[in-house]
Amino acid sequence: MFGYQPVWRNDEQATISEMNLKEEKEIMLQERLKPFEETLDPADWESMRKLGHRMVDDMLTYLQNVRSEPSGIPTQKTIEDICVPLSQDGEGEEKVYEVFQRSILPYSWPVTKPWFWGFVVGSGSPYGMFAEMLRAGMNGCQEALFAEAAVHKQVISWIKGMIDFPEEAGGVLVSGGSEANFTGLAVARNSKAEVEVKTEGVQGLRRRMTLYCSDETHHCLERSVELLGLGNEALRWIPTDNDCRINLDALRKAIEDDRKKNNHPFCIIGCAGTVNSGAFDDLNALADLAERENMWFHVDAAFGGWVKISNTHKHLADGMERADSLAIDLHKWMCMPYSIGCTLVKDRLAHYSTFVYGHEAKYLESALDLLDDQLNNPHNLALALSRNFTSLKAYMLLRAYGKNKYSNLVQQNIDQINYLSELIRREPDLEITAPVVSNVVCFRYKPKGMTEPEIEKLNKIIYDQLTQISFAMITDTTIKGKYMLRACNVNHRSQKQDFEFLVNEVKKIGGQIAKY
Ligand SMILES: Cc1ncc(COP(=O)(O)O)c(C=O)c1O
Repeated sequence: MFGYQPVWRNDEQATISEMNLKEEKEIMLQERLKPFEETLDPADWESMRKLGHRMVDDMLTYLQNVRSEPSGIPTQKTIEDICVPLSQDGEGEEKVYEVFQRSILPYSWPVTKPWFWGFVVGSGSPYGMFAEMLRAGMNGCQEALFAEAAVHKQVISWIKGMIDFPEEAGGVLVSGGSEANFTGLAVARNSKAEVEVKTEGVQGLRRRMTLYCSDETHHCLERSVELLGLGNEALRWIPTDNDCRINLDALRKAIEDDRKKNNHPFCIIGCAGTVNSGAFDDLNALADLAERENMWFHVDAAFGGWVKISNTHKHLADGMERADSLAIDLHKWMCMPYSIGCTLVKDRLAHYSTFVYGHEAKYLESALDLLDDQLNNPHNLALALSRNFTSLKAYMLLRAYGKNKYSNLVQQNIDQINYLSELIRREPDLEITAPVVSNVVCFRYKPKGMTEPEIEKLNKIIYDQLTQISFAMITDTTIKGKYMLRACNVNHRSQKQDFEFLVNEVKKIGGQIAKY
């Protein structure tokens, strides 16, 4: 798609005979095209304009009143309204919009609600919504040419600046944390492999390549390792200490053991914010070890990396800037509309040569042959060729609000989690079950005199009822074999009373169940 540059030529440059031919062809084409006037543009632009304005107004009203807007689990009637046979002639734009209003929006996952703290899910924003609309309007599908290229490049530069990642690194926007990690690990594998993986594949490897991460690492890393052909057995899950951080002695020993077995330890993965409890590995220690062992250092900073812009918690991610590759999301803590993540890689040539089309890579004589544009071209730095012009929303949001706004939001989320933790600590029947380090708190209802299995059962019911009756959205997890409830706060709409509501609901539901 982007392998050539078109050469434009003036009509004056065409010869007479060429012009005659052209005219004849055009007449024939016109004749043939006459009956075909089908298009996706509206027949009546005015009514489309009205519908569009209504959609914008409705959605803004929804977001403005998001606290009171109805929200629920889809009913049978709703599902029947959605799952219909495809009509032959279409039902019309207005009618389909009514389906959205009636059966989709009110029964969608309530991620825009102020009391949504499940998984790690960003809450979007009105201006982000508009940016998405503009992108779709221009049908932005590439980020290598024209203004789009400058926008993508600028966003990567801003991200590096915000999180103090070295300016010389390159980067690419991708669909989210999973793809960002995959992209980083692909470069790690190709750079460290003892054969030319690009041509021989992993089939040419004579030694097993092994990677190391903590047992609190997100499972998307395992998927990446599988898809990279390394086999999930190559990923060594290292135990964590009581703070849910990778145990460095166990890590050193695992690397040593692999060396003794003539395996090839090639990559250490650090967590900047584990999904379960928001814990941070000692990234400087991991960087030191990786350096000493001549290994690649990859950091999954999908949501936690943004502590770098907080006032009080930046130190948690110290050492992150030493990563060879880094995965960070913008749809989580930055609340940008889904989906948008980012991979940063220090060795730009390694990044480029991992993803550039195989046959093109053969002609790479040296880094000097490459123009900066090629190294910045996102089509050479990730899996997708056609790309959603995803950098537009990041560009517009970052430029509109500036770094301070995002710093304040990240700080606010951390402070709110500290407030929630305090509320939990004050309740005799509640207990905190993992260290509270950043924007995640794990806890459970634990009335006196109950056995561990009873507590687990009770909390599972609380979890179900919370999401079904109160719609306070938290998730559950298991750390070191213990079942617990978990609130992860990347929500810019949450307020003090929402955390009080959560604690009261947990107490209320727990108290009612514990009685029986
Ligand atoms: C630490 C961490 N890494 C990676 C991911 C995967 O990111 P995504 O859902 O954007 O693919 C998540 C998702 O929650 C995560 O928390």
